[in-house]
Amino acid sequence: MKKVVDLKNISVYRKYNKVLSDISFTVNEGEFVYLTGRVGSGKSSLLKIIYADEEIRNGEGTTAGYDLKKVKQKEIPFLRRKIGIVFQDYKLLTDRTVFDNLKFVLEASGEKSKSVIKDKIKSILLTVGLEGKENRMPFELSGGEQQSVGIARALINNPLLILADEPTGNLDEKSSDNIMRHLIDASKNNTTVIMATHDMNLIKKYPAKVFNLEKNKFEEQY
Ligand SMILES: Nc1ncnc2c1ncn2[C@@H]1O[C@H](COP(=O)(O)OP(=O)(O)OP(=O)(O)O)[C@@H](O)[C@H]1O
Ligand SMILES: [Mg+2]
Repeated sequence: MKKVVDLKNISVYRKYNKVLSDISFTVNEGEFVYLTGRVGSGKSSLLKIIYADEEIRNGEGTTAGYDLKKVKQKEIPFLRRKIGIVFQDYKLLTDRTVFDNLKFVLEASGEKSKSVIKDKIKSILLTVGLEGKENRMPFELSGGEQQSVGIARALINNPLLILADEPTGNLDEKSSDNIMRHLIDASKNNTTVIMATHDMNLIKKYPAKVFNLEKNKFEEQY
């Protein structure tokens, strides 16, 4: 089994605060794993480590074959192209439309064909239930709709790894179900998915492996 994320005995600091100690966390190709733990337990921080936005100080780790301790600043964009990230606070580009937000991602990964770009955007917007909203600016969308654009952006490049930080946090049940279906489908197509959530009902409804950050281990009961 290919390891897509492999962290060994890492500690996580935010500024000078030690947020997590001695975490060992391995996720294989095509696996779907939930990351749980109370508010402030370090879910988002651990995801930052995985996409090389925070440095590892103790321990070691790899993501998609990149050594997180040795990865150079100029290599990080290549690592990020293998990852679709759904941010807790969306992080859409606020100065451009939904279409242009998605186009930006495709162009950054080297797609040049206007018709391919258009088709891919049309199809992904249909997938996440945002058809017809391509010309809206982010501020013209509800929170849940912005989150759906974030999910579209993460899915559009068929990444090796999806990191989803509370992706259903602002969605109603029907939209959550839809998003979960897409994340689970992606994992069935061999995309690795790591999803931070504290929504236990959602986990019960869509059982998968659970890594509990407070206990610092995978839960047994799921
Ligand atoms: N930029 C920062 N500088 C210093 N400390 C931070 C920073 N960001 C987060 N922290 C601290 O790190 C800890 C973990 O935060 P993190 O955002 O990873 O938690 P979380 O599990 O994602 O929480 P939530 O469920 O609220 O999203 C918290 O105690 C928080 O106060
Ligand atoms: Mg968080």
